[in-house]
Amino acid sequence: MHRVELADLNKTFKNKAAVKDVTVCLEHGVYGLLGENGAGKTTLMRMFCGILEPTSGSILCDGMPIRQMGGDYHMLLGYLPQEFGYYKDFTALRFLNYMAALKALPEEYARNRIEELLELVGLQADRKNKLKTFSGGMIRRIGIAQALLNDPEILVLDEPTSGLDPGERVRFRNIISSLGKNRIVLLSTHIVSDVEYIADNILLMKDGRLIYAGDASRMLAEAEGCVWKCLVPEPEVPALEQQYMISNLRPHASQVELRVISRIKPAPNAEPAEAALEDAYLYLLNKMAEV
Ligand SMILES: Nc1ncnc2c1ncn2[C@@H]1O[C@H](COP(=O)(O)OP(=O)(O)OP(=O)(O)O)[C@@H](O)[C@H]1O
Ligand SMILES: [Mg+2]
Repeated sequence: MHRVELADLNKTFKNKAAVKDVTVCLEHGVYGLLGENGAGKTTLMRMFCGILEPTSGSILCDGMPIRQMGGDYHMLLGYLPQEFGYYKDFTALRFLNYMAALKALPEEYARNRIEELLELVGLQADRKNKLKTFSGGMIRRIGIAQALLNDPEILVLDEPTSGLDPGERVRFRNIISSLGKNRIVLLSTHIVSDVEYIADNILLMKDGRLIYAGDASRMLAEAEGCVWKCLVPEPEVPALEQQYMISNLRPHASQVELRVISRIKPAPNAEPAEAALEDAYLYLLNKMAEV
């Protein structure tokens, strides 16, 4: 098992600081990297994979700078980029063979591994079909399969669930949980429920900074006492929406049931509610702005 340490990592594009002072250590388990669009997730992951040079800071794997490890580090890695390119006219099998050749995997090993992976991602029956006939979810699954070809000990998946339907999300979660046992899995998403049940650790980014790193239960504890439920007449909703962070809104007879994130009681009839991870996510993202 490996240990990857990021220390004071920064990346600036021209005058845009995309990643700022990120320090974190990853050991085995599933890490859910959460953050809104533009938070810096992809930039951080590309540096983590050694394909983007940091402006400053260091990345060490088992104490050694990854740049110094070169190919040895890449051998440990599997990566599914957010913009994942593939040849539409390739069949699933041909695509995986092609990727295995790019990764310089021995032929015999690759042949067996490809069969295992097609089974793992549930695409055995589609192995001879061209990728252009695949659904978005099938493409994501073939993407996960290619990232796993070399049986990586460090797996990096950038938005692996984008475009998946609910059934495919469940299937995906099961695949990832089975992989996280003895390797590092770093996966980004902006959908909290994708990582809620499978991530041992949550990393939360906002405006390039890592604003939370730790387990889900501690994240929930941060938002404790700041989640409220209240029933209000519909005309009052816009004003409350202006004043507070609303995590959910549900029509309830002639009124509306609101789930409000706030340090103070938002309405006289508001009742405290137990925080869910989604609430904690919103709470932490808005903490600086004083919810
Ligand atoms: N090559 C680049 N040149 C200039 N700016 C960039 C480049 N790559 C990223 N950025 C900027 O850096 C910031 C972080 O982008 P990044 O893609 O890392 O965010 P993200 O969290 O992955 O977002 P998303 O959820 O949309 O994928 C954004 O403001 C983006 O516009
Ligand atoms: Mg991204």
